[in-house]
Amino acid sequence: MIEMKARTEVDVTTAIIGIGNIGSRVARHLVQGGESVVLAARDQSHAESLAAELGALASSASVADAVAQADAVLMAVWLDTEKELISQLSEALVGKVVIDPTNPIGPDGRGGYTTTLPEGQSAASIVANLLPDGAHFVKAFGTLGADALGSAANRPSRRAVLFYATDDDAAAETVERLIGAAGFDPVKAGGIEAAGRLELMRGDLHQNGGLGGRLLNADEARAAL
Ligand SMILES: NC(=O)c1ccc[n+]([C@@H]2O[C@H](COP(=O)([O-])OP(=O)(O)OC[C@H]3O[C@@H](n4cnc5c(N)ncnc54)[C@H](OP(=O)(O)O)[C@@H]3O)[C@@H](O)[C@H]2O)c1
Repeated sequence: MIEMKARTEVDVTTAIIGIGNIGSRVARHLVQGGESVVLAARDQSHAESLAAELGALASSASVADAVAQADAVLMAVWLDTEKELISQLSEALVGKVVIDPTNPIGPDGRGGYTTTLPEGQSAASIVANLLPDGAHFVKAFGTLGADALGSAANRPSRRAVLFYATDDDAAAETVERLIGAAGFDPVKAGGIEAAGRLELMRGDLHQNGGLGGRLLNADEARAAL
């Protein structure tokens, strides 16, 4: 069981759908920051064992039950899976903050990755268009590689930044709280039209895109905007 801060004052829960490289790290950071999480995966035993490891602030559920219990939903799955899940969940996402960390990439056949979308189109724009009216969409938690996301939380010097992009004030408020609880400084890059800047392979604000591996503090991040 990991050490955690005091429970958040407001009784809110974040569903983390997908607990691979990204979802497991975000879940761990949020629990350490005092946030409650409910975990779901394709194989529910994966979610059960991570929840047991993380302790009292973490639980596991089916995807549908996790979404029903949550105020915010992090879709830590690949873009095609996210599209399928959104069409299945549909109205269950009304009123939820839906957080999209996806990069529109796929295998290039040579052991690397290549972009799967044409120039000018972002994963965020696709996801936002699939969501029902009343869902609060935000792009976030995908701007660092998984290793950096895992190791750079609560940096002892100045905190590292996680950029986000949204047109929705409620989503912005929630994601700022979650990014802070996870041990990073939130910086808004703009509305959904700016979300492509946060995505691989072309995004100039992605650690492994235009930032060339660098992690930014808040001053550097604002200067990069
Ligand atoms: N990896 C990175 O460095 C990185 C960085 C930034 C952004 N991202 C983005 O983050 C997203 C997740 O990447 P990842 O590397 O964390 O992927 P991953 O390690 O392959 O994990 C994917 C997770 O999705 C779950 N999943 C698959 N199908 C599902 C379904 N139908 N219902 C519920 N859960 C399902 C899997 O469940 P099981 O555990 O049961 O298999 C697994 O937990 C991707 O869109 C990626 O582009 C990744």
